[in-house]
Amino acid sequence: MLEKQIGVIGAGTMGAGIAQVAAQAGHRVVVVDMVEAVLEKAKQQLAQSMSKRVEKQQLSIDDSLAIQQRIVWTNDIQRLSSCALVIEAIVENLGIKQRLFSELEQLVSNDCVLATNTSSLSVTSIASACSMPERVVGIHFFNPAPLMALVEIVPAIQSDDTVVQHTQVLISSWGKTTVLAKDTPGFIVNRLARPFYSEAIRIYEEGIASMESIDEAMRRVGFKMGPFELMDLIGHDVNYTVTETVWQSFYYDPRYTPSFVQKRLVEAKWLGRKTGRGFYKYEGGQTIRKDVDCSDDVLKAVAERIVVMLINEAAHGLYLGVASKEDIELAMQKGVNYPKGLLHWADEWGVERCVSMLDSLYSRYKEDRYRCAVLLRDMVGHVFFN
Ligand code: NAI
Repeated sequence: MLEKQIGVIGAGTMGAGIAQVAAQAGHRVVVVDMVEAVLEKAKQQLAQSMSKRVEKQQLSIDDSLAIQQRIVWTNDIQRLSSCALVIEAIVENLGIKQRLFSELEQLVSNDCVLATNTSSLSVTSIASACSMPERVVGIHFFNPAPLMALVEIVPAIQSDDTVVQHTQVLISSWGKTTVLAKDTPGFIVNRLARPFYSEAIRIYEEGIASMESIDEAMRRVGFKMGPFELMDLIGHDVNYTVTETVWQSFYYDPRYTPSFVQKRLVEAKWLGRKTGRGFYKYEGGQTIRKDVDCSDDVLKAVAERIVVMLINEAAHGLYLGVASKEDIELAMQKGVNYPKGLLHWADEWGVERCVSMLDSLYSRYKEDRYRCAVLLRDMVGHVFFN
């Protein structure tokens, strides 16, 4: 495997990280970007992060230099011609990606695998631009790629099974936890995580609890960060766009409806930590927050409502074959650090209790977003997830 040369197109946030992961795994890597300044910046950032690791004695100087020397940074796309795998990480635009894939096919050998790091586009539709769509696959890394353990492998409907298997073996050999996801909007993580944000905002909008209280409620059940502080960290431009894209891609299914509260933050350019203001204000490295003002009972009810909506989404996903139950569990724990698998959580609570919680939300609001997943209803009285 190591003799394989890996190509990466796009040296932005994701491309630079993916190149680092491949070089650390021992591959020679060619990184292409059309903007010289981006290439220079990515190269310098890698050098800085390597020297920090050398200072902390996590890496020897020799290894640090070897990793950097294995990467070629170039604006010449022809340099990708001898790669065995090319991973595309350019702008999230279907037309531009399709043009690139069709150009790439002319450059590389017939057995080169072409992969996309898209987070919201259809891999199938990107593959359709190629005359050999069977060699196209999604390899979805999370940000920052060198630190995040999870990678979703997403076959297009045209992908050859062997290509998919080899790709999964290769990416796993880079030290990543890989899961197989169906080519549906949001794949596993970006779809199943939606209620963590949207139900939290809904509870806040209804005035049931303050954002400080909702964040505290979720930390108490084991999440490292509450939804509001996490959205502020991710950035509302990014988080809102993912929600809106998933909602549109599911033909406006009310389960994924975005919120006006978050839309207004984006419009005001209150994007979160990076702009000093989002749901919270940030001053001198401090988060300005009020005290938690809810009773323990309310905090418990808030956390249970959000968790049951996450469980419901996981059950919908499992029922519709988005991924295996093992991969659904792994994805949420490794991709977004959930304290436990959502299906396991359902078993702990009892599926019957989950169904009754969802039914009581539905009977109160009469909104389709609270409809109980058919799988949960079918399972009542049985434990299938363990
Ligand atoms: P970015 O904007 O940081 O980098 C994109 C780079 O691609 C830019 O440097 C640009 O100059 C270059 N580029 C654009 N068109 C090109 C072309 N035709 N040839 C060569 N270079 C070209 O974008 P980012 O955030 O790295 O995202 C890249 C891809 O990864 C997108 O598809 C995005 O959806 C996906 N993704 C992003 C994540 C994130 O958190 N930023 C997480 C997972 C996936």
